[in-house]
Amino acid sequence: MTQCCINPSILSADFVNLEAELQKISNADSVHVDVMDNHFVPNLTMGLPVVQRIQAVSPVPLDAHLMISDADRWAPGYADAGLASVTFHAEASIAPVKLARELRARGAKAGMALRPATALEPYLDMLPELDMLLIMTVEPGFGGQAFLDLTLPKIRRARAAIEGSGVNVAIQVDGGITEETIVRAAEAGANVFVAGSAVYGAADPSGAIDRLRKAGSL
Ligand code: DX5
Ligand code: ZN
Repeated sequence: MTQCCINPSILSADFVNLEAELQKISNADSVHVDVMDNHFVPNLTMGLPVVQRIQAVSPVPLDAHLMISDADRWAPGYADAGLASVTFHAEASIAPVKLARELRARGAKAGMALRPATALEPYLDMLPELDMLLIMTVEPGFGGQAFLDLTLPKIRRARAAIEGSGVNVAIQVDGGITEETIVRAAEAGANVFVAGSAVYGAADPSGAIDRLRKAGSL
């Protein structure tokens, strides 16, 4: 059995009590922090100063998901802040290879995200530049949306490409992950799962993490 990673998204947490909310997920692998700029996506969350405070009090490493325009300009600052993992959107980067190298050079794991309708194939040759590929399973911007099954073939193609080339790249999925959909995503080849409402909407967030980890580990 391969144990998967569960990264709860604090987008569904109580933003006024983030420190207490973070303590509820100390059994998670990382905490997924959604940065939105009201430009790349039609929603606004937080910027680097808030992310740095979250990092200071979090019991687990940070996995930043930058849903922001002009990623080439802003993403390196998140790596400079010492975040474990920084994921930018391919659609928001002019020079994704250069950006991924900059993130790694600054000590972060480099992640690249694809919106549901963005094809994987133009990016296959840059897989060795990445530590993680994030395949969005909803349109980015909001928590609580339904999982898009149309993304499953892309997850399968990504898994096949990674196995075929022997690179060590995690496949993260984000959006609509529940104890039910996580099984389909895992069978398709994902191994890092973001869950917002399924964790913070549960009566017992840490129990929900354990149940998701069990369901998503094949
Ligand atoms: C959506 C965000 C997600 C979101 C997931 O744009 O990137 O991380 O919080 O929320 P759920 O798990 O509720 O779909
Ligand atoms: Zn996210």
